[in-house]
Amino acid sequence: MSATVRFEVNGEPRSVTTDPERRLLDVLREELDLTGTKYGCGEGQCGACTVYVDGEPARSCLLPVSSVAGKSVTTIEGLAASGALHPVQEAFLEEGALQCGYCTSGMILGAAALLRRKPDPTDEEIAAGMNGHLCRCNGYVKIVQAVRRAAVAMRSARRA
Ligand code: FES
Ligand code: FES
Repeated sequence: MSATVRFEVNGEPRSVTTDPERRLLDVLREELDLTGTKYGCGEGQCGACTVYVDGEPARSCLLPVSSVAGKSVTTIEGLAASGALHPVQEAFLEEGALQCGYCTSGMILGAAALLRRKPDPTDEEIAAGMNGHLCRCNGYVKIVQAVRRAAVAMRSARRA
């Protein structure tokens, strides 16, 4: 059975005719060519497939595409505004907080959501807030440094 599912992706209206139970992750990657969203565990455990649904982080490996009908999805490709990298993206680059990069899209989206909730987190709060995002390269020290750097940059941008 197939159905047409309409939703917004990175600010653009999209429609996909497919099995409505198909994973959002697969639709993003295979139908919409948004391959920044990664398949890691497929079981909601690693965070590699993180996207925002109506602004909130969600694991796209666990969501049937029908569940986002009428909603707004943001992927890593949509995080940068007006051609400028998001401060969390900048901070990951500046800190070298990626090795193979497989976890990075999910990490960045998770970190940006964390900093929306908690603009001045301690290292412990960063670690707790990023719990559920796994890095197979074990790059956690630099990831925490990058989140801290992004927090500083975002707070000073707000003051400017
Ligand atoms: S692929 Fe979705 S949480 Fe691991
Ligand atoms: S940088 Fe390789 S999985 Fe995190």
